[in-house]
Amino acid sequence: MSATTNASTDLPGDPLRQLTLDQLRQRTSEKWRHYDPDVLPLWVAELDVHLAEPIAKAVTDAIAAGDTGYPSGTGYAVAVAAFAAERWHWTDLDRGRIRTVPDIMLGVVEMLKAVTGPGDAIVVNSPVYPPFHAFPVFNDRKVIEAPLGPDHRIDFAALAAAFELALGRGGKAAYLLCNPHNPTGTVHTRDELERVARLAADYGVRVVSDEAHGPLVAPGTVFVPYLTAEGAETGLALTSAAKGWNLPGLRGAVAIAGTAAVADLERMPEKMSSSISHLGSIAHAAAFREGGPWLDALLAGLEENRRLLADLLAERLPEVRYRPQPGTYLAWLDCRALGLGDDPAAVFLERGRVALNSGLPFGTGGKGHVRLNYGTSPEILAEAVERMAAAVRN
Ligand SMILES: Cc1ncc(COP(=O)(O)O)c(C=O)c1O
Repeated sequence: MSATTNASTDLPGDPLRQLTLDQLRQRTSEKWRHYDPDVLPLWVAELDVHLAEPIAKAVTDAIAAGDTGYPSGTGYAVAVAAFAAERWHWTDLDRGRIRTVPDIMLGVVEMLKAVTGPGDAIVVNSPVYPPFHAFPVFNDRKVIEAPLGPDHRIDFAALAAAFELALGRGGKAAYLLCNPHNPTGTVHTRDELERVARLAADYGVRVVSDEAHGPLVAPGTVFVPYLTAEGAETGLALTSAAKGWNLPGLRGAVAIAGTAAVADLERMPEKMSSSISHLGSIAHAAAFREGGPWLDALLAGLEENRRLLADLLAERLPEVRYRPQPGTYLAWLDCRALGLGDDPAAVFLERGRVALNSGLPFGTGGKGHVRLNYGTSPEILAEAVERMAAAVRN
């Protein structure tokens, strides 16, 4: 039994409690190298975990065998379909509807290109993962915001208004849904997704659902893949193991077509599918195939951190508004009552030496907010809140 295993249950121990700050500071990834070494980084969506053992084995076996050529086979698609059937009760996901892509955002762009043309509009629910604003614009689309409601859920009146605006000048439109939602952690319900499907059908808007955080939903909450919602047949979706198992350094993702959207997926250039990293594809397949127990241990640790964060904020920074949500490992903190201006992250960084994401690039609703990544140890999380509190009291 390895040191990372919980002896009484034979399940992996909490992956968030296995690395010290000194060990993490040895890392060369963006989270740990972007800021000066005295800054505590709780920003970009990387997890402070070791690689799950089945993934490490699959990748090191491939390296030992010199298996570092071009990608081949359907291993990733098969693993995603099996995971979706087991975890999400998505039992009719035929692997013919799944294609690999180099990563989620490149897949998103390809799907948006499949259903819209240059000059067309893409609707997003701000505040949202900043590349949702940037990538469509790079590709000659314009972005129209349908801000989430104050409860961090889809505001259907705003969504309908955005669809109208998007289609107002003629042309096509797509809705880029974030399911679950980054940065708020909102997990959309089946009812909400079926309402999305109906509204999109009424307006003739195509839905592309980014499900990067699909595996990261708290125990007791149900993640509903958009394509399993009634009426979602013309939708397209993207998922990957990058967020759930911390694999951004081993890139890969899959695009999935609704039953009535297979032709759109087939229009994607073959080169896009074959540009996935072979090692990435091996790692992601291992995660979906054998990483379930590790993921469960992670989800239990994240649930504890979510509670810990709420308690620490209530105690040390009661002015900060945090509405814990069951998805992702990201907390969206409303800091407006602290009076730190539009960009409190800049103040926390300068005065507290703690790095959080500024809310500003997330679009409307981002002012006065920060995004905090609690995919770390409880000790680091506690130290971060301490630093934030010190920054405010200074
Ligand atoms: C909603 C969402 N989509 C996509 C990504 C990035 O995925 P990839 O690195 O595979 O493009 C992230 C990363 O945080 C994300 O939160």
